[in-house]
Amino acid sequence: MRILEQAVKDKVTQAVSDVGAEGDDWGYLLGPATVEEHGDLALPCHSLAPILKRSPVDIAESISSTLAPSLVGIAEVSAVSGFVNIRADSEWIATRLRELLSDDRLGIEVEESRVAAVDYSAPNVAKEMHVGHLRSTVIGDAIVRMLMYKGHTVHRENHVGDWGTPFGMLIEHLLDLGEHNAADELGMGDLDGFYKQARAKFNSDEQFVERSRNRVVMLQGGDGETLRLWRVLVDESMRYFNEVYGMLGVLLTNDDIMGESNYHHLLPEVVNRLADLGMLEDSEGAKVVYSGDWVNREGEPMPLIIQKADGGYNYATTDLACIIDRVERLGCNDLLYVVGTPQAQHFKMVFEVASQAGFMDESHNTAHIKFGSVMDSDGKILKSREGEAIKLVDLLNEAVSRAYQVIADRNPSIDSDERQRIAEAIGIGAVKYADLSTERTKDYVFDWDRMLSFEGNTSPYLQYAHARICSIFRRSDTDRPLPEDAAISIRHAEEALLARRLVNFSAMVDESLSTYSPHRLCTYLHSVASAFASFYENCPVLSSEDDDTMMSRLVLCDLTARTLSTGLGMLGIESPEQM
Ligand code: ARG
Repeated sequence: MRILEQAVKDKVTQAVSDVGAEGDDWGYLLGPATVEEHGDLALPCHSLAPILKRSPVDIAESISSTLAPSLVGIAEVSAVSGFVNIRADSEWIATRLRELLSDDRLGIEVEESRVAAVDYSAPNVAKEMHVGHLRSTVIGDAIVRMLMYKGHTVHRENHVGDWGTPFGMLIEHLLDLGEHNAADELGMGDLDGFYKQARAKFNSDEQFVERSRNRVVMLQGGDGETLRLWRVLVDESMRYFNEVYGMLGVLLTNDDIMGESNYHHLLPEVVNRLADLGMLEDSEGAKVVYSGDWVNREGEPMPLIIQKADGGYNYATTDLACIIDRVERLGCNDLLYVVGTPQAQHFKMVFEVASQAGFMDESHNTAHIKFGSVMDSDGKILKSREGEAIKLVDLLNEAVSRAYQVIADRNPSIDSDERQRIAEAIGIGAVKYADLSTERTKDYVFDWDRMLSFEGNTSPYLQYAHARICSIFRRSDTDRPLPEDAAISIRHAEEALLARRLVNFSAMVDESLSTYSPHRLCTYLHSVASAFASFYENCPVLSSEDDDTMMSRLVLCDLTARTLSTGLGMLGIESPEQM
């Protein structure tokens, strides 16, 4: 409990020095108690033993009796097997709850100190967005929302793959199909079909290969008609991607598109800067950077290719240009990339070259926010039944129709328009939450039944807890917001557990953000919803024994609902008021 830690830290440090451990600031030993029942914080005394030449049990007892008087009104102190345990008083917790009650931000401080570029989603033009892009989109959007909530300046950068050699082939295929037919096909979202047809011709038809090569040269050379055809491909694909973004309810808009093509003009600059620094070497005509410690999957030394022998540039060159742009034009401190784990080596190399070349310095924080794959129940990468990449629009539609069915079964009284709206919140929320709640670096299994379940660490479970509280307020004759001076008393164990979790919200948001791990926020929100469930089972709210008790419990209800909806909001998930 960070809020308690802040309140007691100085006094703990003082107590440790009072028992004779001078010098170091021993306060760092203080941390969250590992067993919630033992207390909120614990100070292990084992590392003090050799210094004080006394047993940890003995030391814990001395510190505990020195500390206890100074924490009166804040916390109870006890010594158990070499640990000093600190447990916040109910009164003290009640005062913290009262502070949260009148705070729209539920204790979450505004920091406003950073300018961040978050590079996420980044599908490729004329190719189906795959489930990897879905993960990037969902995780990236949650990180953006958390950063924004903390008041930081955020540039959403959708680094769409819209440039490079395949575009010669794609434009020629567009011409073969006829511009309007091709646009229709792409606009309907049949990106994979389009790409595959082009690829098949490229693999079998010499003349098509020749035309494609010429077309790339024209594209790179800025030929007007070629650029116009290229735009058709980009616009039609973006139309489809925007449909997916709209269904997902993510923040990305056309203004956030910073495709590879946007950095084209900076690529010669990258080469010149690296050349001036003497960082480029020649490797069979290509310009490369060697560091010596980069190896490929086979363990052989591998360079970063900056410019190929034919003059063409690479994916890495564009990413170096991106860094220059984000640092120099946007003034970013944080350069964050939400991209799958297979690109770890790429980013490691790009970051190293960029710092060596001075494109950024120690004041810049780079992070490859990597994530694992989405698997099916057989442990294979998730594909459609035909073995093709899954069309995301189909997947999201299926989520909504499954959720619709679940709501129809559970709550038949809701009319069909409202049910559709709720189904969207629940279906899309379930897909996003399943993705966000697993530790991001791990693979996760896509499982409809699990993600749509009203039990366990799922979004329907959290949304249901929220909706249940809204229904309590609908049935009570108490208006929200509740009065700021509401009586709050914590008497039952279930009230105490829920209250302790509620006051930890801002700390958990900070922890989740600083490690770019939305799953930590999910785990926390689930712990709040489950503490609420046992509170609600054991402590009647609307039929409590007296008005003060009812008001105190309504405060817990109100804070729980606001914590859940604020937390889900940071994850990009809605909180319907009934379901
Ligand atoms: N378009 C790439 C892909 O589909 C992802 C781009 C990620 N961002 C970046 N700056 N490299 O794999």
